[in-house]
Amino acid sequence: MGRVFVAGSINMDVVATADRHPRVGETVAGRQVLYFPGGKGANQAVAASRLGARTTLIGRLGKDSFGAELRTFLGDQGIDLGYVAETAEAHTGTAIITVAEADNTIVVIPGANGLVGADDVEVVPLLAGDVAVSQFEIPLPAIAAFFRRGRAAGATTLLNPAPAQKMPDELLALVDILVLNETELGFLAGVDLSDSDETAKIVDTARKIQVREDQTICVTLGKRGVLALAGREEILVQGRAVKAVDTTGAGDCFVGALAAELADGAALRTALAFANAAASISVQRMGAGPSMPTAAEVKAVLGAG
Ligand code: RIB
Ligand code: NA
Repeated sequence: MGRVFVAGSINMDVVATADRHPRVGETVAGRQVLYFPGGKGANQAVAASRLGARTTLIGRLGKDSFGAELRTFLGDQGIDLGYVAETAEAHTGTAIITVAEADNTIVVIPGANGLVGADDVEVVPLLAGDVAVSQFEIPLPAIAAFFRRGRAAGATTLLNPAPAQKMPDELLALVDILVLNETELGFLAGVDLSDSDETAKIVDTARKIQVREDQTICVTLGKRGVLALAGREEILVQGRAVKAVDTTGAGDCFVGALAAELADGAALRTALAFANAAASISVQRMGAGPSMPTAAEVKAVLGAG
């Protein structure tokens, strides 16, 4: 059974809940302020670890109280933190989040995450059968170095290019599995997918950004499920109807669950259905990191049909 290695961001999420989002220039009264462990990298590692994968996180924290709290939380989830360094040069990554009507807005300040470099990832003991996961909240050169190392070791590389930014083709060529939402896909392909319900258009767009024939592109469609293009094969997994309270970190849950299943040797279709069910649980709970489900919870959902 392979392990999951996540090189990525670790943030404290400072969350304000309100009945509705303020417009630009407007002030609204909120309900609560909440502090949740977050950061796309950390969230993905929490999901993988809670779902039973041996998980290592690679990243950086500041030498401050948020950093100490996050280290305790992540350690309690069973994640190996041997490659999480502390730096005096920056504060712990922080995200300022508004949650209203189950939707969120996020401003993320990278802090220590912005200092993750190639030297942090090159020492990681990746082996064949492992899954190397990253996202776009750490510098791209570190991600490229991590994936180069992963591929040399025979590991599978999985990139979640969020938040969206342009990436060089050399980085995309290092990716075995790309997991992104429609907005990110549209951005990377330079195509407007805003109200495209058509799976054919999404598949065509995914095909456009495929730089290797053996690359898998998974497009998460929110409530509508997930559509994957694996080489030439298309796989559609239907969404699950649930009542969402907070979708923050749902994409991260999907990514972490997919990585855990693939490391465990599951077939892609099975892993996608599992990850889809896991994400449907996470949106029913507040917060990012703390909302990740256990394997027993996901199996109960899948068993119920
Ligand atoms: O994907 C959700 C995450 O994005 C939040 O936890 C926040 O920290 C931002 O990084
Ligand atoms: Na959640």
